[in-house]
Amino acid sequence: MSGKRPDHPSPGSILVSAAEIEDIVARLGQEISGDYAGRHPVLVSLLKGGVVFLADLIRHLTIPHHIEFMRVSSYESTQSSGVVRILSDLQTPIEGRDVLLVEDVVDTGTTLAYIVDMLRLRNPGSLEVCALLRKRVPRDPGIPIRYLGSEIPNTFVVGYGLDHEENYRNLPFIAALATETSR
Ligand code: IMP
Ligand code: MG
Repeated sequence: MSGKRPDHPSPGSILVSAAEIEDIVARLGQEISGDYAGRHPVLVSLLKGGVVFLADLIRHLTIPHHIEFMRVSSYESTQSSGVVRILSDLQTPIEGRDVLLVEDVVDTGTTLAYIVDMLRLRNPGSLEVCALLRKRVPRDPGIPIRYLGSEIPNTFVVGYGLDHEENYRNLPFIAALATETSR
């Protein structure tokens, strides 16, 4: 008896271990540092899920950079609502800047497509996407991801910043969400 609600989902099998995440983030940091050598990009992180990834990623950057945050919402519990809402916008103009959008997980691609379209209208010098995870979805959302950490199965995951109803962001690994009643 766990003491939890019987229908309360909890982290199940680990899909990306802490050690694997470390390797992935180090590799991405190296790639980005090489590609942006001599430039001064602004990394835009999407709150809240993207903060853990961003915090680790910038410690692998050897180039000068700024960080900015946007707060968007498209998920309700474990389902994408399909509607992206901007809850908090960037605090600085990005016109002419090299912008790197740092996203935790690309699922349907709805969030990314919306943000990319919106940021393009502000005339950045360049705009690329770095995503830690991409789900293997049958329908390709067609968003180019310049820097990709890892592909994962099309299942809801938690950990390393990703939540289920605000829980489990602290886990050092990425795990599938398991429902206790299904065991
Ligand atoms: P998309 O718009 O369907 O691509 O969903 C992207 C956003 O939904 C991500 O930025 C996450 O915040 C959230 N999201 C998508 N899949 C998951 C998941 O498996 N766990 C937690 N959050 C997720
Ligand atoms: Mg997100």
